[in-house]
Amino acid sequence: MILNIALLPGDGIGPEITRQAVKVIDAVCNKKGHEPRYREGLIGAVAVEKTGDPYPDKTHKICMSSDSVLFGAIGDPRFDNDPAAKIRPEKGLLDMRQKLGLFANIRPLLTFRPLLHMSPLKREIVEGAGFLTIRELTGGIYFGEPRGRSEDGNTAFDTSVYRRDEIKRIAHLAFDFATKRDNKLTMVDKANVLATSRLWRESIKEMEKEYPRVSVDYMYVDNAAMQIIRSPRDFDVILTENMFGDILTDEAAVISGSLGLIPSASVGDNTSVFEPIHGSYPEAAGKNVANPLAAILSASMMLEYAFGLKQEATIVKKAAEASLKEGVVTKDLDPDMAKGTSHVGDFIASWINRA
Ligand code: IPM
Ligand code: MG
Repeated sequence: MILNIALLPGDGIGPEITRQAVKVIDAVCNKKGHEPRYREGLIGAVAVEKTGDPYPDKTHKICMSSDSVLFGAIGDPRFDNDPAAKIRPEKGLLDMRQKLGLFANIRPLLTFRPLLHMSPLKREIVEGAGFLTIRELTGGIYFGEPRGRSEDGNTAFDTSVYRRDEIKRIAHLAFDFATKRDNKLTMVDKANVLATSRLWRESIKEMEKEYPRVSVDYMYVDNAAMQIIRSPRDFDVILTENMFGDILTDEAAVISGSLGLIPSASVGDNTSVFEPIHGSYPEAAGKNVANPLAAILSASMMLEYAFGLKQEATIVKKAAEASLKEGVVTKDLDPDMAKGTSHVGDFIASWINRA
């Protein structure tokens, strides 16, 4: 099989972790007789520097003509500390999501046995936990109009907008995931306050009869934030809007022990994008210390979801688990015996060669 992959390494640690993911894709493709073909595009602060645009047209074309996109990270502190910056690197990510129509972001909470002691939660609470958050990604307060400032500059506003068809499109996906898992869906909203949340709730209620096997819970987001740390095992599939999903998925990620471990998939109308959920970690850029596992596990998700290569995806997952089991890990997971980013990538690639 030929795999046309767009590579968008982006900022900070993006390039070095993406390089490890490529190593791993190459290893598994080599083993199974597939041919990956990569084309690289600029995104984020590096794209602003080189082209003035955080998501240049050329990059968009590369994405549109690829089967799938592997994305690194975005963000640069030089822009963060400048509230007046006209162009923000993050805009590149938001533009990409919107232009590629990536309406659903799938973020798993994963727990790994060898890492249970790294979780900020007690072992007995976190052991066996594992759920998926399906986050709406192209609507809500991230994109709603009007947004901006009043003329005198003293008032700022953002608008949250959702349409029923937009809600139902992603809800179908969430129900489908639930039927493949434990038939349990939790709709997280703020229906006691927000009109958009009430439309979400109403729309999901209408859909319940189409999925009689799935039991649906409705939970306010403040309560959900609490229940996720109190009892993460109670969740199977969480469905939520853009901003709540942004917040809850960082909370969920840290339960696994390190933000450096969690991959994600964004699916859309035109293509799909796979990316670590962590940011660009600028302090570590170029130092060969960042954890490449989220990028490598994103590659595994890509093999499975974008190309249907389930076996190949499983090999990559097993290889990543082997690195954890054998302690070939970066310093976020083991400050004393830490290995470099590329060392972990090499270990995983050669584990696959031997498998
Ligand atoms: C994420 C990030 C982005 C978001 C930022 C970088 C715009 O936090 O992917 O979760 O808020 O969606
Ligand atoms: Mg986020």
